[in-house]
Amino acid sequence: MGYKAIPRKYRPQKFSEVIGQEFITETLKNAVKSSRLSHAYIFAGPRGVGKTTTARIVAKAVNCENPIDGEPCNQCSQCIEITKGSHPDVIEVDAASNRGIDQIRELRESVHYLPARGKKKVYIIDEFHMLTKEAFNALLKTLEEPPEHALFILATTEIDKIPATILSRCQKFIFRRIPEELLVKTLAKICRNEGVEYEEEALRLIALSSEGCVRDAESLLEQAIALGGGKVETAKVSEFLGILTGRQVRELLRLGFEGKKEELFKKLRKLEEEGYNPVFVVKQLLEVIEKEFLNPAELSEEEAVAAFKILSEGYREISRHPYPYTALLFYLHKLSYFKEVKRLTELLKGNLKVEIPRETAEKKTENGTLEAFVERIVEEGEEVRVIPISSLAYRILKEREEELRRKFGKRVKIEEPRQEERRKEPSESSKLLIKKIAKELEAKVLFVKVKENESTDS
Ligand SMILES: Nc1ncnc2c1ncn2[C@@H]1O[C@H](COP(=O)(O)OP(=O)(O)O)[C@@H](O)[C@H]1O
Ligand SMILES: [Mg+2]
Ligand SMILES: [Zn+2]
Repeated sequence: MGYKAIPRKYRPQKFSEVIGQEFITETLKNAVKSSRLSHAYIFAGPRGVGKTTTARIVAKAVNCENPIDGEPCNQCSQCIEITKGSHPDVIEVDAASNRGIDQIRELRESVHYLPARGKKKVYIIDEFHMLTKEAFNALLKTLEEPPEHALFILATTEIDKIPATILSRCQKFIFRRIPEELLVKTLAKICRNEGVEYEEEALRLIALSSEGCVRDAESLLEQAIALGGGKVETAKVSEFLGILTGRQVRELLRLGFEGKKEELFKKLRKLEEEGYNPVFVVKQLLEVIEKEFLNPAELSEEEAVAAFKILSEGYREISRHPYPYTALLFYLHKLSYFKEVKRLTELLKGNLKVEIPRETAEKKTENGTLEAFVERIVEEGEEVRVIPISSLAYRILKEREEELRRKFGKRVKIEEPRQEERRKEPSESSKLLIKKIAKELEAKVLFVKVKENESTDS
């Protein structure tokens, strides 16, 4: 006996204890303090972020015998009864359970009687978007002419379903999901309070998994404590939640960048078999990439930017893909192209040098491959004028000038591409061509530092 589940035990009893909704709680506290509360409020927002909690605090604050600066005292009999849920003037209606018609009808009758014990009758209607049309209409009549002593708090997770006629009669507050950092801090505080040892990363995984919902975070923490025999450890929590540890996430990224298909496939299949949620996997990948972007350790800035783009696209697709792990495999493997693309971009900008191994070059030249770089050949007496297909081709041909001379047995003049042509952004097809050529020649692509004023980069 005496045991209370964490979400119940840690339910805030004052405005100042509600986390992450400061704008709302401050506004309400000030309204209580100056007795300027509206007759009707809508509390909208996702599950488990403090709507019911805040509604009950409002009920206490307006009925408290000794409110302190807009906060309930939590000691007077009014406060105590409301906390226990047994105050006759605080009426909670759950619209989800019976769609409310009888209760709303009853409410319409009883609302005109004065409060039995407190100062105000507070009606908290939970999930009120579930009310039937009749119940809505009944409620609307009451909201049109609410008695002075009545206060309505209508909570919903789906504000879109609320008719405009009701919305216009209420002051609206939109409750937010709680940021991860704040959840971690709150969970850590609970652990310390419970005398439980914890690893911070474990709490981070719990926060991530609960997607900004405090109730879920607290319930998961409770399970994690039970599971770890009073200790909250990363490895166990990771397994139990089906979310990866930071180390595992970095491993996936590395395999992707390195293009290790086989290993990546095996690793992902294992995660799938163990029931890891692929959407969380992608979310975690994105988080690590963000960290790398702000504080580069393993990825360069360009890599982080490219990876973020690729995996953000992946996220949208993976979340509704029939084979999410297969999709993830392809998206992660796409990271390996990035290094290639970067090299080619540099190549096209002229910041690279192409080094063709002599033997291959000779072999290929015999087979006429060098012609692939040539747009036109103009024979003019003792001279052969060679017009290359691109600025890259120019540079390749320039290096092979001697071979060309031998081939033609004449003087060779390789025409330099015109300046404006050099500055032109290469087309998709020429990029493809270069890729093909580089492969064909088994070319090794080397970085060459280009002096600022020589660069053709615009
Ligand atoms: N903003 C918050 N600050 C502190 N605890 C919260 C908050 N939101 C939810 N909780 C915790 O989650 C439990 C459920 O919250 P509740 O107010 O019933 O959520 P909602 O009505 O939005 O679904 C509370 O008992 C409390 O422990
Ligand atoms: Mg609720
Ligand atoms: Zn009180």
